[in-house]
Amino acid sequence: MSGEVLLRATDVVKTFTSRGKKLGARNVATAVNGVSLEVRRGETLGIVGESGCGKSTLARCLVQLLPVTSGSVEFRGVELTGLSRRQLRPHRREMQLVFQDPYASLNPRRTVGDIVADPMRINKIGSDQEIGDRVRDLFVTVGLDPASIRRYPHEFSGGQRQRIGIARSLSLNPSLVVADEPVSALDVSVQAQVLNLMADLQESLQLTYLFIAHDLGVVRHVSDRVGVMYLGEIVELGDAEGIYGSPLHPYTEALLSVVPELNDTDAPRRERILITGDVPDPSARPDGCSFHPRCPVATDECRTLKPPLIELRPGRFVACHHPRNID
Ligand SMILES: Nc1ncnc2c1ncn2[C@@H]1O[C@H](COP(=O)(O)OP(=O)(O)OP(=O)(O)O)[C@@H](O)[C@H]1O
Ligand code: SF4
Ligand SMILES: [Mg+2]
Repeated sequence: MSGEVLLRATDVVKTFTSRGKKLGARNVATAVNGVSLEVRRGETLGIVGESGCGKSTLARCLVQLLPVTSGSVEFRGVELTGLSRRQLRPHRREMQLVFQDPYASLNPRRTVGDIVADPMRINKIGSDQEIGDRVRDLFVTVGLDPASIRRYPHEFSGGQRQRIGIARSLSLNPSLVVADEPVSALDVSVQAQVLNLMADLQESLQLTYLFIAHDLGVVRHVSDRVGVMYLGEIVELGDAEGIYGSPLHPYTEALLSVVPELNDTDAPRRERILITGDVPDPSARPDGCSFHPRCPVATDECRTLKPPLIELRPGRFVACHHPRNID
C-alpha cells in the first residue's frame, strides 16, 4: 500500500520504574522496547498481542499521552517528542484515542452531550450554538439519538457508550484515530455493530486507524496491515493477507491457530498450537529471542542471539531465526 506516511515511530522505548522489594532497589520494566512502525494515510494498521505486551503503552506514547523514554514519533513529518504542551496541541487534535473500556472512560457525572462537547470547549472551537449543533450531528453520525444528549453515561448500553466515546474522538475532526481494543469490553453481538460503524466512519470521514486488539480474529476484517507485538516488541509486521495466509513468526502462527473463526470448516485446518505460560515480566526479559521460553521450535541460537526485525519479503517483516511458511 502506498500513500503518505501520517505517523512514523522509530525505536520507541518506554520504561516504567518502580521500587523493588529490597530497600533502595528499583525495578525497570521496559513496556515498549524499540518499536518502529509507519501508519499511512487512509489505512488501518492492526496491532495485536496478549495482555501486558505493551499495546496500550505504545498507543499512549504515539498520541503523546505518555512521554517516550527514547525514540522518535513523527506526525506528518513533525517530530512530536520534546514538544511543549502548547506546541503539541495542534497535533494532538489530529490524533485521537478511543479507549478500551467504555464504562470507565466516560465521566459518570457529566451528560453525554457535555462529554462529546468537552474537546471542542477545551480547544475553544466555535460558539456554544455551533458546539451544540456539532454534538447533535456527531450523535447522528455514530447512530445515536440526538435527543439523548442530556442523559448520563449509565443510561446507555455498552455499545452505545462506545459510540459516545467514538463521537468524542471525532469531535475535533482528527485524521488519525488510535482505537485501543475498542470492542473488547462489549458483547460479541455488539462488537460487529461497532466495528461496522468504525469501517463506515473511516470511509466517510477518510480516517486513518491504528486498531489495537488482543486477538487476530477481531482485526482481521478491519486491517490492511497487521503488526504482532510480543513483550514490547513488534515481532511480525505485514499486509493482512500475508499475515493470515502464511504467518512467518511462530508466535503469530500460534495466535492464529487458536482463533476459532479463522479455522472454520472451509479452510484447511490448522493444527492448534498451544503456547504455554504467560507473557514474561517486562522487567525480566529473557536472553536471546524474548519468545524462546514459549516457542515450540526454539533452538540454542534462539536462547542466546536476539533476532532483529528484518524485511524477509517486500513489506513482510519478521524477527525470528527460523521463520515459518517460507517455502
Ligand atoms: N503506569 C505504569 N506503571 C508501571 N508499569 C506499567 C504502567 N503501565 C503499564 N505498565 C506495564 O507495562 C506492561 C505493558 O502494559 P500495557 O497496558 O501497555 O499492555 P497491553 O498490551 O495494553 O495489555 P492489555 O491487553 O491487558 O490491555 C505491563 O507489564 C504493565 O504492567
Ligand atoms: S527466534 Fe527462535 S525462539 Fe524466537 S520465535 Fe524464532 S524460532 Fe522461536
Ligand atoms: Mg491495553
